[in-house]
Amino acid sequence: MKVTVVGAGNVGATCADVLAYREIVNEVVLVDIKEGFSEGKALDIWQKAPIDLYDTRTTGSTNDYSKTAGSDVVVITSGLPRKPGMTRDDLIETNAGIVRSVTEQVVQHSPEAIIIVVSNPLDVMTYQAHITSRMPRTKVMGMAGILDTARYRAFLAEELNVSPKDIQAMLLGGHGDTMVPLPRYTTVSGIPVTELIAKDRLEAIIERTKFGGGELVKLMGTSAWYAPGSAAAQMVESIVKDQRHIYPVCIKLEGEYGIDGTYLGVPVVLGKNGVEKVIELQLNEQEMELMQTSNRHVREVMDVLDRMNNK
Ligand code: LMR
Repeated sequence: MKVTVVGAGNVGATCADVLAYREIVNEVVLVDIKEGFSEGKALDIWQKAPIDLYDTRTTGSTNDYSKTAGSDVVVITSGLPRKPGMTRDDLIETNAGIVRSVTEQVVQHSPEAIIIVVSNPLDVMTYQAHITSRMPRTKVMGMAGILDTARYRAFLAEELNVSPKDIQAMLLGGHGDTMVPLPRYTTVSGIPVTELIAKDRLEAIIERTKFGGGELVKLMGTSAWYAPGSAAAQMVESIVKDQRHIYPVCIKLEGEYGIDGTYLGVPVVLGKNGVEKVIELQLNEQEMELMQTSNRHVREVMDVLDRMNNK
């Protein structure tokens, strides 16, 4: 299996590294626009192979997409990260053009590839990649839900002083402040989280999760990369090994949750064909309201993209 990761910055390089050292695929191509950058990162990952004992071939390419030809999955991480004080939506002007041109080249060389978008603003960049690729919605998706639930699960594990491995959670909506963590679908080794944590503590954790990316931007002056890179690699793994995991993934909704045409995070079955199935949860009134708020927010940013594309 061959996977291309476009963008050799922190997130892209982390994703390539995880794909390599966990031997998720046997070939990783890292592409970047900056001369020599992806070659250097790929060589560094390859030189770690004898230490960490893996044999995934990792190579780099400065903007030459012919080296990516025949990829099974392509992860797009290109674009600017945000700086303190910025929202993800502030990146739309710069990142939309980048995602459009990267997608064109990806599709030209790997017309069968499944595309995973990581660039921000995530939901709207998934929209951009989808319309540019002209592929079925099941083959163009965004990575955010695994990252957001990982933050939520990590905070819960810390609060309860238990292993993060024991926390199961689901989350819906856009990758932004309107995301919808779902306590009703959160368990700790099968025990509903609501039986273990006081309501106000749980609400505080949900709030922290919603602003989890921003917390890191504030601390580091730039966006996170370890968890985002690993989350994208986990999606690749479910696809290339046809594991059929249920993960929250950003996809174009076509009537599910009463929403048509917006790109939002929902639980899906992820397998060899990409999104094998969209799972529709029976939301209560309050959850549905939060989902609709998220829908309206993402829709507004999609409209901004439409205006930019029609200029
Ligand atoms: C994240 O959530 O870490 C990413 O979307 C990057 C960001 O700017 O927050």
